[in-house]
Amino acid sequence: MSINEKIKNKQEEPLRILVIAASARTGSLNAKLAQLTATVISERGAIPDLKSITEFECQSFNQDVEKESGIPSGADRLRKCLLENDAFIIVSPEYNASMPGNLKNVIDWVSRFRPQPFNERHALLMSASPSMAGGNRGLWSLRIPLEHLGTRVYPDMFSLAMAHQAFTNENRIANDVLAKRFEANLDAFMSLVEAAKHYPCMKKAWVEFLGERPDPVTDRIES
Ligand SMILES: Cc1cc2nc3c(=O)[nH]c(=O)nc-3n(C[C@H](O)[C@H](O)[C@H](O)COP(=O)(O)O)c2cc1C
Repeated sequence: MSINEKIKNKQEEPLRILVIAASARTGSLNAKLAQLTATVISERGAIPDLKSITEFECQSFNQDVEKESGIPSGADRLRKCLLENDAFIIVSPEYNASMPGNLKNVIDWVSRFRPQPFNERHALLMSASPSMAGGNRGLWSLRIPLEHLGTRVYPDMFSLAMAHQAFTNENRIANDVLAKRFEANLDAFMSLVEAAKHYPCMKKAWVEFLGERPDPVTDRIES
């Protein structure tokens, strides 16, 4: 098959996007926003893969546990979901101006797989909170481990402020301007993922600390 034919075939495949609702709480505002995200993705003709963080639950990270019993099944489920989809979206609450502990915990577990599954994936971050900042500080903390692991985190993030009053009964964003902003953010991200799918970036190696003197004791690298 020629390269042009391969590109054409890929263009005909719909995008697949993993959407993770990072709060397990009944009536979660972030789960609502994740559900709306999945709905809009479907409306655009792409395929959402909506998952709750509960599906990726793991015990607290401990290298002794890893040595004795390997990486937990919750982390392996997330690894598979990352690989089965073209990109991922995390819709996460903010806890104490940071990300929830269970979310960081599963990121740490998944980072132990080789090939390292976050590398080269595209991600969009969203949050919802009753507060005026919408949980945005939590997303800044979430960017750090993801970018460290080679994920291309989309520059624009969406944080829904006063989220307890923000939804209609049909689970849409009530304010028209905000609803448009939300959809525009999602559309822009999906365009980038579409482009990346057809024109993959040249970067291949994941080196944890690029400038570090090569040493097998400290190296976390793959090519
Ligand atoms: C332990 C804890 C810490 C929280 N810290 C923050 C915070 O720093 N900023 C914020 O906007 N909301 C904070 N909240 C409030 C959450 O935003 C609110 O409970 C939200 O509804 C949680 O998301 P969910 O509805 O998806 O479960 C905190 C809640 C808990 C339980």
